[in-house]
Amino acid sequence: MATPIEKPSILLIVGGGVAAYKSLELIRLLRKAEMEVRVVLTGAGAQFVTPLSLASLSGAKVYEDLFSLTDETEMGHIQLSRQADLVVIAPATADLLAKAAQGLANDLASTLLLASDKAALAAPAMNWRMWTHPATRRNLAVLREDGMIFVGPDDGPMACGEQGPGRMAEPEAIFAAINAALNRAQNPVDLLTGKKIVVTAGPTHEPIDPVRYIANRSSGKQGFAIARAAREAGAEVILISGPVALEAPEGVSLVRVETARQMAAAAEAALPCDLFIAAAAVADWRVESDAGQKIKKTGGGLPTLHLVENPDILAEVAQRAAGRPPLVVGFAAETEHLLDHARKKRLRKGCDLIVANDVSENAGVMGGDENTLVLVSAEGETTWPRLGKDEAARRLIGHLAQILAWREAP
Ligand code: CTP
Repeated sequence: MATPIEKPSILLIVGGGVAAYKSLELIRLLRKAEMEVRVVLTGAGAQFVTPLSLASLSGAKVYEDLFSLTDETEMGHIQLSRQADLVVIAPATADLLAKAAQGLANDLASTLLLASDKAALAAPAMNWRMWTHPATRRNLAVLREDGMIFVGPDDGPMACGEQGPGRMAEPEAIFAAINAALNRAQNPVDLLTGKKIVVTAGPTHEPIDPVRYIANRSSGKQGFAIARAAREAGAEVILISGPVALEAPEGVSLVRVETARQMAAAAEAALPCDLFIAAAAVADWRVESDAGQKIKKTGGGLPTLHLVENPDILAEVAQRAAGRPPLVVGFAAETEHLLDHARKKRLRKGCDLIVANDVSENAGVMGGDENTLVLVSAEGETTWPRLGKDEAARRLIGHLAQILAWREAP
């Protein structure tokens, strides 16, 4: 494996799409990771973001024109493309991709792509019909063949009001793809430095008598992966887990509990925090008074279990009058009507975001290593592609770090 470049230089081409605003956040992440960023703004891109904001964030001149004399004396287009370790196109519009596939060179962005001797990474953003159009499919096949790397697009509601694949990947996902392309660590290191995060994970066991209990099939894998990703992103992490066969992720404080009531007490004790993520599959009910001794088959008929409701940990944290964490995230494991249930659950619990996943038998999520997550917030829904639980966790942590950063932005 080649050694990672110490201070990589990125040539970022910002195309014309509503998603161009996300490129501002991408530049912030790249600069924070000590990468040099030179921005090329297309004419269409300039309709969505200003050269001034791009220049302020990148700390460098923004290039717009192929025939600008100043640019040519300062740095010609050949040099501009050669100086970069990686060319990134975000948003990569259908038009930019078509030009790149054809080898056209009729503006600065397309000329740079043609003159470049470096790998290019594209984050497509377009209406879903454009994305699924045979012409775009053909262009993508050509570009993949040429070695272009793609990140996204995501599936979800679009600025045009339609729904489908075509939303530009989130800045953290693009950032992770850039790191991967540059052979650097894939984690959004330092995104959560100085933040405290509490994660609940695993099932709870609710005793019936000293040897029997009510449980569920949660393995805790997703919650543990989230705790690990948060720690890798620099956060202080308290992981409160029901009984699972997993080791504590490095650097994470693990509090092992059995019952929902113990989990609720541990969550309360772990507050305050900046981000609360309820990934546990908490048992909804417990036996009102568990038998002190093993229940015997005495021939006197079947025992009756009187169930009472457990505390709803997520709702209690999300609805705290004082000391509510700034960002509270819940999970919704559903076997049917995923979106409908998740939307209602978000409102009922009072949390900011619900991460919904399909746990019906044919989805193979329970105990498995992959997940298809749908993020449900007040702004709408975004469906992520099927990802390994570690990758999904990193992406979720990147996404949540971004929300926290936006909320804190002046
Ligand atoms: N949750 C919780 N405490 C509970 C029950 C659930 O903190 N007593 C949290 C879970 O960790 C998850 C979210 O609430 O983040 C949704 O859990 P789920 O079991 O899907 O929701 P329920 O409220 O139990 O709704 P239902 O069983 O009707 O689907």
